[in-house]
Amino acid sequence: MGKVLRVAVVFGGRSAEHPVSVASARSVLANLDRSRFLPVPVGIGPDGGWLTPEATRRAVQSETSAFHWLPATGGPARGADPWALLASVDCVFPLVHGSTGEDGSLQGLLELCNVAYVGCGVVASATGIDKWLAKLAWKALGLPTVPAWRVPGEDFADDAEAALRAAEQAIPYPWFVKPARAGSSVGVSPARSREDAPAAVRQALTHGRYALVEPLVRGREIECAVLGGERPAASVVGEIRPSRGHEFYDYEAKYGEGGADLIVPADLPQGAAAKVQELAVAAFRAIDGADLARVDFFVTDKGPTLLNEINTLPGFTAASMYPRLWEATGVPYRELLTRLVTMAVQRHGR
Ligand SMILES: Nc1ncnc2c1ncn2[C@@H]1O[C@H](COP(=O)(O)OP(=O)(O)O)[C@@H](O)[C@H]1O
Ligand SMILES: [Mg+2]
Repeated sequence: MGKVLRVAVVFGGRSAEHPVSVASARSVLANLDRSRFLPVPVGIGPDGGWLTPEATRRAVQSETSAFHWLPATGGPARGADPWALLASVDCVFPLVHGSTGEDGSLQGLLELCNVAYVGCGVVASATGIDKWLAKLAWKALGLPTVPAWRVPGEDFADDAEAALRAAEQAIPYPWFVKPARAGSSVGVSPARSREDAPAAVRQALTHGRYALVEPLVRGREIECAVLGGERPAASVVGEIRPSRGHEFYDYEAKYGEGGADLIVPADLPQGAAAKVQELAVAAFRAIDGADLARVDFFVTDKGPTLLNEINTLPGFTAASMYPRLWEATGVPYRELLTRLVTMAVQRHGR
């Protein structure tokens, strides 16, 4: 038996996915193999302040922790000394979804701390969070992805009519409009004609500088989990079926009670599933992925299977799609965690 490794689980953060992150962290903390790992929770408040160890503990323990954060004491590292803590552990498991956690910022901090960490590095994280940049990488390699037109917020502010006309020339209606860099379906909406378009673009732009205009795809939502380093493997594929009343996989369908069915494995013909797995690994390698990512697709009856997006830090509770896909592939949750930490430590050692 080797020595017990100290694994810091960093969770919380400023994004809309804060409560999801707390739930993911709770699962990981409870399931890390205690004969090999000593989990050390490290919380970040909804306002971005790093929590003291006591506040972190309270956040993990309280069932309604999302609403019981201590007020942050100002900028990062005040009231807590996360840098010293992060630099003192054997490995960090970042579980902060969305901006600053999933976009390479936290990963950059961990690089500076010279500590091993689970998951994608700075470049893969920054590329994966930006749906436009990810598409550019995939298109350059000939991987099939949903086409998109990017509307810069400043162009829309200067001349909305011209910005919409340019988008219409690239992408005929009906549209699906989304922020280039967001998650949890915030700011996304369909636009069926010029009548809905300005509101849809405006809404997407409230979440960042760029809106993406895509053709509205009518297909099944299929997801595949990737695990590994230089020779990553793909899991069985799963399907998301938003329940009736949800036009697409919106925020309520994602996190509300009974909002969607997760079907694992998806009922897909063998050939179609194999294609998804092949594309998932290719999409992961295209952005220089490491350790893990969930790759999301649209599968249509006719027409090609299309990449939608890659999530470099997918939801990580035992009931989330990523762990469920590996469970169904023969890697139980605890074993999955052990593999991820071990890979991270080995990579750092190299
Ligand atoms: N081009 C599209 N056509 C139809 N529905 C879409 C399209 N893009 C996304 N959606 C729907 O919106 C949801 C959220 O969009 P997605 O691009 O996955 O962003 P997020 O990062 O918020 O999950 C998807 O799960 C799907 O239900
Ligand atoms: Mg998505």
